[in-house]
Amino acid sequence: MVDNRNPSPFSAILVIGSVNIDLVIQAERIPGPGENVMGSGFRTVPGGKGSNQAVAVSRMGGTARFCGCVGPDDFGRELLKSLAAAGVDTKLLRVSPEEGTGTAVIVVDEVTGESTIVVQRGANGRMTPDDVARAFEASPDAACVLLQLETTDEVVRAAVRGAVKRGIPAVVDAGPARGVPLSCFEGAAILSPNSFEAKALTGIEVVDSESAIRCAKRIRQAGVENCVFHMGERGAMIVDEKDAAIEVPAFVVKAVDTTAAGDSFMGALVVGMVEGMTLPEAVRMANAAGALACTKLGAQPSIPTRDEVNRMLSGK
Ligand code: RIB
Repeated sequence: MVDNRNPSPFSAILVIGSVNIDLVIQAERIPGPGENVMGSGFRTVPGGKGSNQAVAVSRMGGTARFCGCVGPDDFGRELLKSLAAAGVDTKLLRVSPEEGTGTAVIVVDEVTGESTIVVQRGANGRMTPDDVARAFEASPDAACVLLQLETTDEVVRAAVRGAVKRGIPAVVDAGPARGVPLSCFEGAAILSPNSFEAKALTGIEVVDSESAIRCAKRIRQAGVENCVFHMGERGAMIVDEKDAAIEVPAFVVKAVDTTAAGDSFMGALVVGMVEGMTLPEAVRMANAAGALACTKLGAQPSIPTRDEVNRMLSGK
């Protein structure tokens, strides 16, 4: 079990990952293959798992530094502005001349709030291990590194290795669901998949504590310390290095849009860890942040502040 009761003397949380413009439309239901349905309320919204998580860190009161790549276009300029407006340090955000800014097409079910997302990586795919090396060089104050899988395997591997070399925890959000070699995560403190992502990484369907432990064992063979599974409406399940499964229940809300719930969760989780909470304490706070993100439409506009999260934690 990660025990972070001694607060780190370092303060910054280095988020290495993707940044996208989200093209969002609400629909009466998510269309099946080959089906056309009517939609409404089209909008463009700042998103991308990496930048959402950086915004989440900042709104939770952490010092967020974001390392990512946009294209030389209006979307990229807009994203840079919105990250800065959210208090994120953007000095490591590079403009890649080769490709446009990443985009995501998102359909939100207006009844259940569930979202489906298709991402075109664009400039996010132009990030390199050199960008990661520069980010570590520019971050002697980093207490923790947070990353996701929307860039490339080489970037993920370099970020985890960089954190291990520095002796700080690497926390990996396993989204989106894709088959990344588990060796990329060697030395990570936490890997955090939902059920689709766990299946894509290990072939194991995580539905309960037994399957979560089986899946975590496979992931830990690759050198990861702890797994934190997103279990949807049930909340989260921690499986620690002693194979103990700890269920942390969800907060119940009426979902309007689930987009960025996972990102709000991850941002809150690392802030809790850096502040010295135990892993179950940090996961409880993360569950509250994830639940609150479901109550508003859009990725970054829905990410809650620390005050909102504290109110939910205290039952107000
Ligand atoms: O996690 C939600 C995010 O996934 C969206 O903002 C979208 O850009 C995709 O990266």
